[in-house]
Amino acid sequence: MRLSLRYTDETGLVQTRPHAVVQQMNVGVFYGSTTGNTRMIAEQIASDLRPALCANICDRDIRELEHFDVLVIGASTWCLGDLQHDWQTIFSRFDELDLRGTRVALFGAGDQREYADTFTDAMGVLYDKLVERGAIGGYGFWSTRGYSHVASKSQRGDAFCGLALDQENQAHLTSARISTWCDQLRDELALPMGLRRAV
Ligand SMILES: Cc1cc2nc3c(=O)[nH]c(=O)nc-3n(C[C@H](O)[C@H](O)[C@H](O)COP(=O)(O)O)c2cc1C
Repeated sequence: MRLSLRYTDETGLVQTRPHAVVQQMNVGVFYGSTTGNTRMIAEQIASDLRPALCANICDRDIRELEHFDVLVIGASTWCLGDLQHDWQTIFSRFDELDLRGTRVALFGAGDQREYADTFTDAMGVLYDKLVERGAIGGYGFWSTRGYSHVASKSQRGDAFCGLALDQENQAHLTSARISTWCDQLRDELALPMGLRRAV
């Protein structure tokens, strides 16, 4: 069966393209999730961005991160600033990776009220490690406006180094934040105009 993608072009006309075009973008979404929040977020991001792969890192080999032009990486934070368990388990193996030329964008789930001093720390730890391995960062940075945390390893000036989400206190904002962030990523990564709005 030949799959096709329907999308609206710049002039508002509905067009179709072979699904393979989406896969040529070679975007991979990888996440780690303990209670399912980050998984739900990842799936929503994937249904918007249409990556070639959306996978739970516990089901994959970390070497697969080298196979993508764009990595979208998600993690929740646990135990006062720790990486989510599955990322924690393989963290030392990042040192085997050569991610030179890979563009990366991060997203993370946390709790800004209960863990105000370590809010989405994991996102910052992963971001630093990915950049250390050669990945190109600076994509998907997200304003800290609208959050009430005190400190975060994922904060860079007045922005987080990725999309910070809080299912405990701001779940009602999550869908809109994801949608806005995906639009931002498409712009920043210069993904094809025709794929800006898959319908
Ligand atoms: C014991 C415990 C420790 C936590 N530690 C942090 C933390 O240090 N920083 C933070 O932002 N969130 C923290 N959280 C909140 C989780 O990151 C949040 O619930 C997240 O949505 C879980 O996502 P997941 O289900 O994808 O793992 C903690 C939650 C629990 C239960």
